[in-house]
Amino acid sequence: MFILLLGAPGSGKGTQGKLLAERLGLQKITTGDILRTAVAGATPLGLEAKKFMDDGKLVPDTVVLSLIKEELAKPEAQQGAVLDGFPRTAAQAELVDRTLAERGQRLNHVLLLDVPEEEVVRRMMARAAREGRSDDTPDAIKTRLQVYQRDTAPLIAHFAQRGIVRRVPGTGTVDDIAVEIQRIIGR
Ligand code: AP5
Ligand code: MG
Repeated sequence: MFILLLGAPGSGKGTQGKLLAERLGLQKITTGDILRTAVAGATPLGLEAKKFMDDGKLVPDTVVLSLIKEELAKPEAQQGAVLDGFPRTAAQAELVDRTLAERGQRLNHVLLLDVPEEEVVRRMMARAAREGRSDDTPDAIKTRLQVYQRDTAPLIAHFAQRGIVRRVPGTGTVDDIAVEIQRIIGR
């Protein structure tokens, strides 16, 4: 089963994706984590991605498409996965759709984590104080929210045409939201 977690920055994709992947025994693929690891290791990918990430901009598709291809080709992603933070552009969605279709598979569920903007900003500012993630600054947060609306939110309509999008109220406790997700996907 392939499940996509979609939602604004700070909406809980990472938090819920981890719980969901553990519960279903699936691999969670998080492009943000892969890119942050690359930045920390100062690999060629990381050096290329860092500036975009720190500014809150998307890392260009020219870089991310091959990363996604590589991740989906891994043995642990053959039977299913929880996708956290991608696809987030039309070109990425096309690649995921095509890759799965070639394998006779498809995205089964798109869970849209719905959290008001004030709340996601509050969460990211709280995390900034705790962890100091380099894109949890007021300027980068503003850009991330704009980029989400411009480049990623249109994917909701793309997937909704297939009837696979379910809106999940993303406020409340982490446990309550996890229970709601379990109810929605029926397992
Ligand atoms: P990415 O790592 O994907 O970050 P993001 O989308 O900005 O989202 P976050 O990770 O900040 O939030 P989340 O929705 O995972 O929420 P979380 O569970 O952490 O991307 C970062 C950057 O990498 C991008 O800007 C881009 O530059 C690049 N990138 C990544 N993927 C890319 C791609 N495919 N293409 C191009 N570029 C890409 O929760 C947030 C906080 O809230 C946490 O502190 C958490 O503990 C807390 N929290 C969670 N749930 C609750 C709750 N119910 N109540 C209270 N607090 C909560
Ligand atoms: Mg995340």
